[in-house]
Amino acid sequence: MELKLDSPAETKSENPLEFILTIEDLNKAFDGFQVIRDLNFYMDLGELRVIIGPNGAGKSTLLDLITGRTKPDKGTIEFGRGREHDLTKLREYEINRLGVGRKFQTPTVYSGHTVYDNLLLSLQGPRGVFYSLFYKESQEDKDRIHEVLETIRLEDRKYELAGSLSHGQKQWLEIGMLLAQNPKLLLVDEPAAGMTDEETERTGELLLSLEGKHSIVVIEHDMEFVRQIARKVTVLHQGSILREGKVDEVQSDPKVIEVYLGRKHARDAEGEEKPAEETQGIDLTKKEASPTKPA
Ligand SMILES: Nc1ncnc2c1ncn2[C@@H]1O[C@H](COP(=O)(O)OP(=O)(O)O)[C@@H](O)[C@H]1O
Ligand SMILES: [Mg+2]
Repeated sequence: MELKLDSPAETKSENPLEFILTIEDLNKAFDGFQVIRDLNFYMDLGELRVIIGPNGAGKSTLLDLITGRTKPDKGTIEFGRGREHDLTKLREYEINRLGVGRKFQTPTVYSGHTVYDNLLLSLQGPRGVFYSLFYKESQEDKDRIHEVLETIRLEDRKYELAGSLSHGQKQWLEIGMLLAQNPKLLLVDEPAAGMTDEETERTGELLLSLEGKHSIVVIEHDMEFVRQIARKVTVLHQGSILREGKVDEVQSDPKVIEVYLGRKHARDAEGEEKPAEETQGIDLTKKEASPTKPA
């Protein structure tokens, strides 16, 4: 991979080699519709970054591009401190092997297996359930599983079936399954969707506890949750970055308010009742159910 010395990254940081993720000039269209447009995105090693944006802004597509599920039309996605891997040139499983883990919105755990076995299965990686069921875990495996159980606070549920967990606990277990593989970069799509307030808060604590040990991208709709995490926020709008900064700065930015609340405010002024979707799926002021909450 070539190192482009005149790239914008060099001007963004004293030490560009410290970026874990360097995305430049990224473009992706589906059927002529530009979903990701001239996107530049830089993430520090060990950073916990929150990406917000209205429905259809391109957030999930960005994760698809990073994980190799979708290939871009143009641009680079460089991974690693020395920007040594251009992910756009690699296949999904190769990217995963480099240490990029993704958590989808809906939890996918093995319901018929215990919490412990779910973690053991994910530790075994792609070798599969059949292999893993006859695999005797080493002391190292046990220690790792124990460590993850502690992190996701499911120690006391370890011998229970994953299917018996609450929605929130399943989400944590799935995060734990990714952690078992010790990812360098963890991508989490709307982890708080469908959670109770208490679970949401616990999820925030969990993600904060991972900061520094892993680099983490969290996509989120729930502003209460974004405020709790209170790390650098990137606002994505029509496939480009609209604003980047601290939660307070972002929330009070007129451009951001317009994108999220423009039509809502206009209607409020007219004293009209407005359906929730008029806010384009986000409320910057209070906690609301996510519009993409799984059924
Ligand atoms: N595989 C695909 N084929 C066609 N259009 C897609 C595909 N994936 C996403 N899109 C479109 O791209 C836009 C952005 O979608 P998405 O990335 O899911 O947004 P977000 O996650 O921010 O809500 C939407 O208009 C969506 O319909
Ligand atoms: Mg999405």
